[in-house]
Amino acid sequence: MTAVFVNAKMSDDDRRAQLYQGHLFVYSPTKSSHELTKFAQELAQEAFAPHDPQTAQYALPAEKYAEILAVLKPKFIHHPRCKELIRGIVTELGAVAEETYFDVPRLRTMTHGDYFSAGLAYAFHPHRDTWFSAPPSQVNWWMPVYAIQPENTMAFHPRYWTQPVRNSSRDYNYYRWNKESRREAAKQIKTDTRKQPQAEVPMDLEPQIRLVCEPGGIIIFSGACMHSTVPNTSGQTRFSVDFRTVHTDDVVARRGAPNIDSECTGTTLRDFLRASDFVRFAEEIPAAYDEHPPEDGELIFQPEMSTSTIENARSVHSPK
Ligand SMILES: [Fe+2]
Repeated sequence: MTAVFVNAKMSDDDRRAQLYQGHLFVYSPTKSSHELTKFAQELAQEAFAPHDPQTAQYALPAEKYAEILAVLKPKFIHHPRCKELIRGIVTELGAVAEETYFDVPRLRTMTHGDYFSAGLAYAFHPHRDTWFSAPPSQVNWWMPVYAIQPENTMAFHPRYWTQPVRNSSRDYNYYRWNKESRREAAKQIKTDTRKQPQAEVPMDLEPQIRLVCEPGGIIIFSGACMHSTVPNTSGQTRFSVDFRTVHTDDVVARRGAPNIDSECTGTTLRDFLRASDFVRFAEEIPAAYDEHPPEDGELIFQPEMSTSTIENARSVHSPK
């Protein structure tokens, strides 16, 4: 059973307990989430001018479109205003800034149809973020930037909360991934040849839950939830913003969603910043998640350094 809590008046502790059981939360826009999505709109409008960002794909060749995204996305990710607004969002929804850590927000796009691909396979790609070295306590926060519809939102696949899926996370080490990402960025490779965790068996994506909220509305879910981006048949490009949080007590106590099928190594915990002062965890905390000390690789992800232009355009909802 998967419950969807709407505008729940609940403490952050109680909400995380529900999230760790696979339940979903939806909130109306808060002051800061409204500002964050407005800010994303402004940057997108500026980047695509004179075109409307939601329909610019019809006026621009894919290469040009990808070039625009390659500038727009890092600008958003690294903008100091975003960090302040994330602190605002989590505290407005009851989290304690001194106890909550977040990673930098991503601005994602999902163009209509097959603009960037001969097929839409990459768009489906159901996954758990925990296949990609997210800790079991990771909570994902997702917001549409413009109005969305069932045809261009994201989907949850609740049967897989308790049903394991054979997947390739056993081959994924987060530090190696970070290192290879950097190397590939330097080479300006346009196609993604890196191996990302994915299901190794056919999946049944029904039943699925598609939540539709207004721009700046917030969908919150456990990083262990099976989720995917739906093939966009809406006629408009979808823009969304997402970030993840962890609570320090849960990280230290190793609390979180049950792990039923993830075998990756390494942890993303070093990417997270404390909401009160943007300081990272003391090293012993993420280090406790490393069964074997990392021998080779980069411990911390460098957002968007890893992405080439086309890959950037395709960064629909990959965990990284
Ligand atoms: Fe994800």
